[in-house]
Amino acid sequence: MQADLDRILFDEATIHRRLDELAARISHDYRDRELTVIAILNGSIILMADLLRRIPLPLELDCVSVASYHGDVKPSDELIFRQVSLPDVVGRHVLILDDILDSGVTLTSIREKVEAAEPSSVRTCVLLEKKKTRARVVDPDYVGFEIADEFVVGYGLDYMERYRNLPCIGVLRKDLIANGVNRR
Ligand code: IMP
Ligand code: MG
Repeated sequence: MQADLDRILFDEATIHRRLDELAARISHDYRDRELTVIAILNGSIILMADLLRRIPLPLELDCVSVASYHGDVKPSDELIFRQVSLPDVVGRHVLILDDILDSGVTLTSIREKVEAAEPSSVRTCVLLEKKKTRARVVDPDYVGFEIADEFVVGYGLDYMERYRNLPCIGVLRKDLIANGVNRR
């Protein structure tokens, strides 16, 4: 799978070092509040597992399953909720977790849904933030790394559901995007 990458942006050790820093900040910020983490599946599943094990606080974990890419590399502005019901967040301190902030549609749509359910507070955390002009303005509270506006895979991020299990994050070769990845 690594041969399908144009280049590696962040290796596993670099990601884990950054997670140590993010987890320390989150743990400090929520030291006297009880967290409810809402992870956006499928992309944030690896991040969720690695980040939450670094946070030594009592917390609740829930997941929502959405899709905006429809198996392509360009975001669409319509978000499909595969799982319609949100966890009960009344009076809770919610932290929404996503793999990457691209157009902003995913994070703003979920944030609006959560805010309508009367939580005490809502914050957002993304591992990657693409530097670009967004369809929807979002300012995430916790960001792992800023990256250029390129299509990346690995560490939970997919192209047509592949590459999520790559331990690093890298830019996918352009010829694979153009031709489609062969199913081997
Ligand atoms: P947004 O709604 O456009 O901000 O896109 C967020 C979602 O699109 C993420 O949760 C990812 O699943 C997916 N996504 C955005 N950019 C990339 C990328 O470069 N590689 C893989 N998935 C991406
Ligand atoms: Mg995806």
